[in-house]
Amino acid sequence: MPKDKEHLNLVIIGHIDHGKSTMMGCMLIKTGAISDREARELEKLAKEYDRESWSYAYVFDRLKEERQRGITIDLAFRKFETPSKYFTIIDAPGHADFVKNMITGASQADAAILVVSGKKGEMEVGIAANGQTREHAYLAQTLGVKQLVVAINKADVWDYDQARYEECKDAVSDLLRNIGFPVKKINFVPTSGMTGENLAEKSDKLSWYDGPTLLEAIDAFIIPEKPTDKALRVPIQDAYKIKGTGVVPVGRVESGVLKKGDKIIINPTGFKGEIRSIEMHHEEIPQAIPGDNIGFSIRGIEMKDVGRGDCLGHPSDPPTVIFPNGKWEGQIIVIWHPTAIAQGYTPVVHAHTAQIAAKFMSLDKKLDQKTGAVIEDNPKFIKKNEAGMVTLQPIKKLCLEKYTDIPEMGRFAVRDMGRTVAVGIVKEIDVGAPAVKKA
Ligand code: GTP
Ligand code: MG
Repeated sequence: MPKDKEHLNLVIIGHIDHGKSTMMGCMLIKTGAISDREARELEKLAKEYDRESWSYAYVFDRLKEERQRGITIDLAFRKFETPSKYFTIIDAPGHADFVKNMITGASQADAAILVVSGKKGEMEVGIAANGQTREHAYLAQTLGVKQLVVAINKADVWDYDQARYEECKDAVSDLLRNIGFPVKKINFVPTSGMTGENLAEKSDKLSWYDGPTLLEAIDAFIIPEKPTDKALRVPIQDAYKIKGTGVVPVGRVESGVLKKGDKIIINPTGFKGEIRSIEMHHEEIPQAIPGDNIGFSIRGIEMKDVGRGDCLGHPSDPPTVIFPNGKWEGQIIVIWHPTAIAQGYTPVVHAHTAQIAAKFMSLDKKLDQKTGAVIEDNPKFIKKNEAGMVTLQPIKKLCLEKYTDIPEMGRFAVRDMGRTVAVGIVKEIDVGAPAVKKA
């Protein structure tokens, strides 16, 4: 890990097959982050699977099923350096079935590259009502990914044509503006992830373009101020049993500072222990700060004490737990629903790394999406493209925080029928009470 460079988590998002994995694979190979030997091996493998054009994508698509089907399913992480920063690149899947993995990736990211294929028809499908260019952009915004670069990709297919580039740029700008991104500050970069055009070096095929390369654009991202003075929150991504070490939970520090030797608590399991060691990118570190993706070992912990969706904190200011008789008030935007959201609806809520069913106890207000003004009290329904205040109750214990306290822990997405129904932030929390044990 380069000690003199600042660190950013960068998620690669966009519609299926728009070239996310290929682009980042190519970038890593061209800049030497992947050895020639490994690149040659991937090329050979892609040939074996009869998927020659996917060889760059194999840098990220490592599962056998991903390589055979030519799609990304799960998140893949890789390290990458630019002149001023080093990145953890999180390659997200575009396929609609795997949006939950994309949400997990975006919830860990500081910045994103939105990859939009400029190929005739592909850009249009991505920004359509049920396209993932649109869905991913919405989710990224709500999950707090504030900085974005848009790559108008597959330039080799649209013949490096400036008019097509402008057309794509305008369409995507409109979409992003509506979602609430500061479009003026966003770099749009024409690229070909297949031929490497404009990734790490300027391309003479794009002489009409005078903006940054993709590498320059991501190098220009601003490092967000780290909430080190807030309460410690580390949502758990997963836990592994490692021979000789024991149980190793992994996750990203969202707020606060975690030091070796710290006394900790994991909620909602309530496990208490002490940090024995912290690791990042396979190196031991004395302390971890917001943005760090870490693994750690804790004396005496077992697999039952920790898992995906749990949250680690200090016992002096432990992660807030909402009990199944508690509730939270959320401000939501409905992205998609075949009919409408009504009281009693019980979809799955994704918040940080947790996925839990939760019930809409009441619909409290319908809001004007642009101004936040109340349009209607106690509406019967909230439909697609409408915003509102709602009260939700988790069916199991859930760690959550008010958005104003810890924004990173105060966002959620509502999913149903394999799609994102709504995204929102936590306004108020009523934790409820632990169930009283019968004597
Ligand atoms: P998912 O992860 O499944 O959403 O797909 P992805 O966005 O990662 O796309 P991937 O990199 O797997 O590429 C999909 C297909 O598009 C492959 O056949 C690639 O070879 C092709 N492709 C990707 N980038 C380019 C490009 O710049 N030019 C051309 N001509 N083809 C590309
Ligand atoms: Mg992919």
